[in-house]
Amino acid sequence: MLRPATRPALVATRQVRQCAARFFSSPVSPDTSSSHVHSPSTTPETNPAPPPPNSRSSTSSSKGKKPLTAEQRAFLSSALRVNQAGELAATLIYTGQTPPLVTRDPSLRPLMKHMYDQEAAHLRTFNDLIYRHRVRPTALYPLWSVMATGLGWGTAMLGKEAAMACTEAVETEIGGHYNAQIRKLLEMVSEWEAEGYEVGAEFRHLINTLRRIRDEELEHLDHAVEHDAQKAEPHWLLTGVIRAGCRGAIWVSERV
Ligand SMILES: [Fe+2]
Ligand SMILES: [Fe+2]
Repeated sequence: MLRPATRPALVATRQVRQCAARFFSSPVSPDTSSSHVHSPSTTPETNPAPPPPNSRSSTSSSKGKKPLTAEQRAFLSSALRVNQAGELAATLIYTGQTPPLVTRDPSLRPLMKHMYDQEAAHLRTFNDLIYRHRVRPTALYPLWSVMATGLGWGTAMLGKEAAMACTEAVETEIGGHYNAQIRKLLEMVSEWEAEGYEVGAEFRHLINTLRRIRDEELEHLDHAVEHDAQKAEPHWLLTGVIRAGCRGAIWVSERV
């Protein structure tokens, strides 16, 4: 059952962005996805994402669009919920990491800002989507916020290598997580096309959005490895614990 996004969660996200902006040399981009921008009356049917301008369905069918099944609606709701939670955590990890890292090595400031800015944009994307489609955000916002900030700050205090190992571990899990979602959505597309239904432009746009974000997460993974993530000691333990924590957080956020 889809429910309206709760105002406290959106307020919390706004506060996070305001807090994060103070740590970087320039503020994050203005939030253009605030809740008041969109009509709350939109409900998810077969189009869970906003369409790009002038986009059109690539299929032409007299059957039109097939309504989502209850299972598909539940999948999309949990996907948007967990993605928003994950992107919130990502912004907080970089927010926690940046002051200790940049204080010791100012040359890391552009990289940290670049990765943070991309995570902030991902978070705006999913804030927009969960509000537009009236998906309840995770109830564990406060818990994830504390844990992500602590993880970022703690690994940065251990050193650059540990901080980068954290990014390597997180992005490995998140890259796989987005890939699994993309595969599921492509399966839905294949089924609809096989049955002669249209696939809406918004649905295709959602898949392309997930692909772009997945690619940016994997870019972060590459940056981390290039910046000595695998020299962290003990690398296997650090990355193993963080990856297990990510999997647990994903599992919980999909449901709670
Ligand atoms: Fe992200
Ligand atoms: Fe990332």
